[in-house]
Amino acid sequence: MDLELSVVAEKNGSTIREATRAPADAQRGRPLRGLLLLSAAILLACRPMVANGVFGSGGPSIPARRTPEFPTGWRFTTGERGVISRNAMVVSNSALASEAGAEIMRRGGNAIDAAVATGFALAVTYPVAGNIGGGGFMVIRMADGRVASIDYREVAPLASTRNMYIDPSGMRTDKSLVGHLASGVPGAVAGMAEALSKYGSMSLGDVIEPAIRLAGEGFVVDSSLWRSLTGDSALLTRFAGATTFYPGGRPIAPGSRLVQQDLARTLRLIAAQGPAAFYRGEVADLLVAEMQRGAGIITKEDLARYRPIWREPLRSSYRGYSLIAMPPASSGGTTMIESLNILETYASLPPFHSSAYKHLLAESFRRAFVDRNTKLCDPAFCNVPVAQLTSKSHAETLAQTIKSNQATRTSSMASIPAGTHTTHYSVVDAKGNAVATTTTLNGGYGSGVYVTGAGFFLNNEMDDLAVAPGQPNMFGLIEGEQNAVQPGKRPLSSMSPTIVLDPRGELLLVAGAAGGPTIITGTMQVILNVIEHRMSLADAMRAPRMHHQAWPDSIRFERNGFTAAVSDSLTAIGHGLYQTQALTNVNAIMRVRGGLEGVVEPRGSGGAVGY
Ligand code: DON
Repeated sequence: MDLELSVVAEKNGSTIREATRAPADAQRGRPLRGLLLLSAAILLACRPMVANGVFGSGGPSIPARRTPEFPTGWRFTTGERGVISRNAMVVSNSALASEAGAEIMRRGGNAIDAAVATGFALAVTYPVAGNIGGGGFMVIRMADGRVASIDYREVAPLASTRNMYIDPSGMRTDKSLVGHLASGVPGAVAGMAEALSKYGSMSLGDVIEPAIRLAGEGFVVDSSLWRSLTGDSALLTRFAGATTFYPGGRPIAPGSRLVQQDLARTLRLIAAQGPAAFYRGEVADLLVAEMQRGAGIITKEDLARYRPIWREPLRSSYRGYSLIAMPPASSGGTTMIESLNILETYASLPPFHSSAYKHLLAESFRRAFVDRNTKLCDPAFCNVPVAQLTSKSHAETLAQTIKSNQATRTSSMASIPAGTHTTHYSVVDAKGNAVATTTTLNGGYGSGVYVTGAGFFLNNEMDDLAVAPGQPNMFGLIEGEQNAVQPGKRPLSSMSPTIVLDPRGELLLVAGAAGGPTIITGTMQVILNVIEHRMSLADAMRAPRMHHQAWPDSIRFERNGFTAAVSDSLTAIGHGLYQTQALTNVNAIMRVRGGLEGVVEPRGSGGAVGY
């Protein structure tokens, strides 16, 4: 029985629905049982195959795929396919940047060469999030089994102080979001160069070459860049980027060519001199001059001291599959592993479309986010109990507190503002080396500040520190003292570049996302959809998503992503619901029989390029 529900109010971030026909099971106090019966019929279907690629005719060790049934009114259909290739694949939010990575692999480069080429190209073609003025995290798994992760997160400048973003009454200001004070010291150039020097096979000059071409010769603006510039014009026209992106005061029109000569010059300097050009040389001078123009605090010393950090990636397992994930200063790996461990304590999970499943997801996210928000921070500044948080025994303890017929309450807080921008790209080369990279300026176009003469935007990553501990940040995350502003500290991140191996230890998935804290839950749901619900990657990416981050104490779900019956039953057991247009921007690659399947986020734009 489906329930007819109508939205009667939206209040404090919770969609309040009214049932016009009460669920019989809920009336009897057994809401979950009926919902299990309502679960979608499951059809078995095998994935299409690509014969005899470099991965051989043998496929990954995963059972046959199943076609899910999406709720009526849901925006996507099942049974689509991603881009299939035999050898190699790049998936990013810019088709031109993916092509840059694929070009490098066709010229003999490996996945790391291609990832760095894609990263620099994204700084040109996807300026809302692709960057050299921000930072990120990269997880690497070489075909010979070596794994690595590199943290090139921004750091708080030396002159930063705990209370620099609050007003005399203790309330946060917008200075951690907009303008020159909002930026951490960028890590992208140092991080990408370091990853390349350790695991790449080509020179920095070679892999930056496509980005230089795209900046110097220009590329044709598409409607998605135009829309994004239109949306952010109030911010961007306040700063020096206005000349490049708003010729004549209007966003550069779709179909016209965007040439970024200053950026091309900066990239040429980096190609010729390495990261020193950015951290000590001419680019550093321009960046510091920009800071001085706007009373910012990043100095030459800050830039000269910046170092990316190689970290031991987190390793965990979920029902025989292995996860290779990002440790702090990102919370991504820890939080995802903690949630998955909680779910693994159940012998099996309810069907995808049941409210019982949504309830368990929400409760596992809730518990993992409480730990995230209260215990995680830059490990150089606090003792992060990663081993304990990611242990199976911790999950067992947390799982025992979950009731099957009652939502736990954390507390009710303000609603979450809409996410802005970050970008994730996944790369696999013909040998099976894999790279998952997520990079960000934090908000779309970061702080809005554009380095005059150097041609790039600066991040507003300082807002990922707890600028006013106890008050929500731009993503509604409430974090504690451990993440307060301190010089040299890396702001806690949610970025979750992740690589999954099948039970035989062979590459299965490369995934990650944009979307603030929904990065963690969105990436994890794609992984669960593949492993637990046996969806194809295309279906796993198209399936409705939900999110819970403990505070605010409600489930965010995508419009028409829950059936009315599911919404009603979740409400009946005490969940707040908050409906949103779209959650998370994931870009993923999955190994399929004989090759690779690349899927760009269907809610966004970009390109999967393989050969
Ligand atoms: O590192 C983080 O968690 C945030 N700076 C990510 C921001 C983000 O994903 C914006 N959204 N698309």
